[in-house]
Amino acid sequence: MIRRFFCIALIGAILFSSGLLSADEKTEKYINTLTELGYPAPEENQLVHIPPTMEDLEEADVHPELKRVIRRGYDLFTNTQQLRGENVFNNMDCSSCHTGAGRMPFSAPIWPAAVTLPDFRGKNGHVNSLEERIAGCFTYSMNGKPPEYGSDKMVALTAYHSWLATGVEMYPDKPIYGRGFPAPDRPEELSYSRGEQGYNEKCAVCHSEDGSGLQVGNQTVFPAPWGDGSNNWGAGIVRLFTAAGFIKNNMPLGQPNSLSDQQAWDIAYYISSQERPQDPRYTGDVEETREKYGPTFHKHSRYGQIREVDGKRLGDHENTGEKDFLKPDTVRSRTFE
Ligand code: HEC
Ligand code: HEC
Repeated sequence: MIRRFFCIALIGAILFSSGLLSADEKTEKYINTLTELGYPAPEENQLVHIPPTMEDLEEADVHPELKRVIRRGYDLFTNTQQLRGENVFNNMDCSSCHTGAGRMPFSAPIWPAAVTLPDFRGKNGHVNSLEERIAGCFTYSMNGKPPEYGSDKMVALTAYHSWLATGVEMYPDKPIYGRGFPAPDRPEELSYSRGEQGYNEKCAVCHSEDGSGLQVGNQTVFPAPWGDGSNNWGAGIVRLFTAAGFIKNNMPLGQPNSLSDQQAWDIAYYISSQERPQDPRYTGDVEETREKYGPTFHKHSRYGQIREVDGKRLGDHENTGEKDFLKPDTVRSRTFE
C-alpha cells in the first residue's frame, strides 16, 4: 500500500505544474521529470503536450455544465467498476492500464485519440470515431459491452478525452511523444520459466501468484493480469510487444524502467501465456479465429498456440468470463454506403 501511495505522489509530481511558470519552463520541467524516471526525451520533431489536470478544469473558463460532464467522464474512467455487470465484466478500471487517469505518457495517454480520430483502424478495417475507439476498450480490455453510442456515459467519457487534448491541433502532423506503450527491443529468446520467476519475485506481491489481483468490496486495488477478472483475448495488451511496453514503462508500480528489456519481455511472455476470457471475435474454432485475425492482431499474441510447459492450446475454450454473451452488438463492420 505504501508503494501505491508513493506512485500516486510520483504521478502527481509529474502531472502537476506550477501555474507561475511559462509554457516553455513548464515543458522543460515536465521533460526533466520524465527523463529522471528513465523515459526517453522527446525527439526534435515530436509533439509534446501536457494534459490539463482536474484542478485546471475547476479554474477553466468553460460552461459549468461542461465541467460537470467532464468530471463525470473522469469519474467513469478512474472508477469504471461502477459499471460492473452493465458495461464491465472484469476487475478493470480504464485507469488500470491508462495510468495517471489517462494522462501519463508511455502509458497510452488517451488524449491522442481525440485529435487523431476519425481514422482508419486496421484492427476492425474501417474508419473509427472516438466513441468507437472507447467502445473497443470496453469490448476487449473490460471484457464488456460498451455504453450506447451517444449515451450520457459515452458523451461524458468523450468529453473527458477531448478536454485532456485542450490546445492540441486537430490531426497533428507530428508524431506524439509518449503515445501508446512503446516496447523495448525484443530480445532474441523469451523464457517462460524466467518470466514466471520474475513475476513471482516482483509482481505477485500485488497481482498475486495466480494473477487474480486484489478486489476490496467493489473497488479494484490491484487489477488481474490474467484469469476471469482480466481483459479478454482480443485486448491490445495480449500482444507481446504491448505487454512488454506496458510493463517496462510502468511496472512494478512506482518503479518505472527498473526492469531490463529481457525481464520485461520474459514477464510479458509469461503473463500472455495464461488463460483469460475468449476473444469476442471467436468463430467457434480457435485455430480458425487465429488465422482470421492473425495478420491484423494475433500474430503478436499467444492465442491459439501451444504452451510449452503443459502442452495446452491457449484460448481453446468457450469461457466468456463473467458475461453471458460472447460479442456485444456494437462490434460490427461498417460500409459507409
Ligand atoms: C487491459 C488494459 C486496458 C484497459 C483496462 C483499457 N485500455 Fe484503452 N488501451 C489499451 C491498449 C493496449 C491500447 C492501445 C495502445 C497502443 O496503441 O499501443 C489502448 C488504447 C486506448 C485509446 C487510444 C489511445 C491513442 O493513442 O489513440 C483510448 C482512447 C482508450 N484506450 C480508452 C480506454 C477507455 C475509455 C477504457 C475504459 C473503458 C480503456 N481504454 C481501458 C489498454 C487498455
Ligand atoms: C505495488 C503494487 C504493484 C506491483 C509490485 C506491480 N503492480 Fe502492476 N499494477 C498495480 C496497480 C495499482 C495497477 C493499476 C494501475 C494504477 O493504478 O496505476 C497495475 C497494473 C498492471 C497491469 C495492467 C492491468 C492488468 O492487470 O493487466 C499489468 C499488466 C501489470 N500491472 C503488471 C505488473 C507486472 C508484470 C509487475 C511486476 C514487474 C507488476 N505489475 C508489479 C500494482 C502493482
